[in-house]
Amino acid sequence: MNFVLYNPTRVHFGKGKIEKLKDEIKSGTKVLLTYGSGSIKKFGLYDEVLKILKELDCEVYELNGIEPNPKLSSVRAGVEICKKNNIEFILAVGGGSVIDASKAISIGAKSEHDVWDLIVKKYFPQDRVPLGAILTLAATGTEMNPNSVITNDETKQKVGFAHPPYTFPVFSILDPANTLTVPKNQTVNGIVDTISHLLEQYFNDTDNGELVDRFCESSISYMMEISPKLLDDLGNYQLREAMMYTSFVGLNGILSVCGGDWSTHDIEHSVSGIYDISHGVGLAIITPNWMKYVARKRPEKVIKLGERLFGLKKDGLNDIEFCDKIADEFTKFFKSIGVPTTLGECGINDERLEDLVDNMYMGDTIGGYVKLNKDDIREILKMCM
Ligand code: NZQ
Ligand code: ZN
Repeated sequence: MNFVLYNPTRVHFGKGKIEKLKDEIKSGTKVLLTYGSGSIKKFGLYDEVLKILKELDCEVYELNGIEPNPKLSSVRAGVEICKKNNIEFILAVGGGSVIDASKAISIGAKSEHDVWDLIVKKYFPQDRVPLGAILTLAATGTEMNPNSVITNDETKQKVGFAHPPYTFPVFSILDPANTLTVPKNQTVNGIVDTISHLLEQYFNDTDNGELVDRFCESSISYMMEISPKLLDDLGNYQLREAMMYTSFVGLNGILSVCGGDWSTHDIEHSVSGIYDISHGVGLAIITPNWMKYVARKRPEKVIKLGERLFGLKKDGLNDIEFCDKIADEFTKFFKSIGVPTTLGECGINDERLEDLVDNMYMGDTIGGYVKLNKDDIREILKMCM
């Protein structure tokens, strides 16, 4: 498979790297500081950032309250602040939601078109307000990729998009100490998301991607190994560091050179667009069911993964039975780290099944490993109930 690999984001990784803001932002810049509902104030990062921006004589504007599963209304509010005040730089401080919203703001601020039209690719950006990020939650990989996922508050459509090179952060500061306060449930979500990104890239349609496969297998195995330790010891810097590294390497482009599947993510985005559940929760529910479903059409790679990751042997089982057993191992792992594994546990039943199918942001099919149409998606969702 031919590919282009391009990643311009400078990553400053490690303890105390916040000091790099002084090199990255020019003094006197008009900065829009974006953040969520206030965790950064509780653990002191907000004060630290503001102090440095003041030292740099920056004129600071703020957009706070960016929601988990960030909404178009927040993006629009940010675009308005940028346009009204000629903002020169956006500094996003938070998890994936804050950074994703800020990516959309950065292109919306330099376009005459409505930002939603850029998100759904009716129009394409020609410029952006440069963006820097200080990551506080290891999960999405958004800190070193051009992707963003925004929910339209009115239609409930949750749309993933990328407009490289404009939506790459110029820099990202990754200090594991900034993730020490992430609560258990959000840490679990981050673990599931990281594993899911590795799985999505593992299930590609390429027949000469052995090294990528091995990277993915060993990264998943490593995440599964450290997760229980981290969940027992949330303040452990070294484990946070390990997770932060795995999550950004897991989705910074290096493992996507063979393509990927991404159906699990597409289906999850429809579910969290309507029901606003956490991305990681949705993925934990959908992943094993997706795996069982596609194994009935194309079992080979599920079998390879199960044999290598869990050391399972067929022992007289047929392909379908064996793949079910492998998918059940994922459910067992997700249960062990305390994440729901059915939609029912999240209070979601089949009442709005058709809405979930219709809410999919897709063409005729989704999926790189096995192509799925709306009938397939409906069946997978039923299995998740
Ligand atoms: O709102 P604040 O106060 O920031 O609190 C957040 C939020 O409540 C909290 N949190 C973050 N850092 C913390 C902290 N609490 C205590 N201490 C800290 N250090 O955690 C909650 C969840 O934050 P959020 O940013 O929503 O989580 P995450 O990073 O998992 O991002 C999820 C979003 O990213 C999208 C998802 O769909 C979802 O909308 N994704 C983005 C991707 C990308 N751009 O590449 C890929 C992913 O597959 C994913 O789809
Ligand atoms: Zn994800």
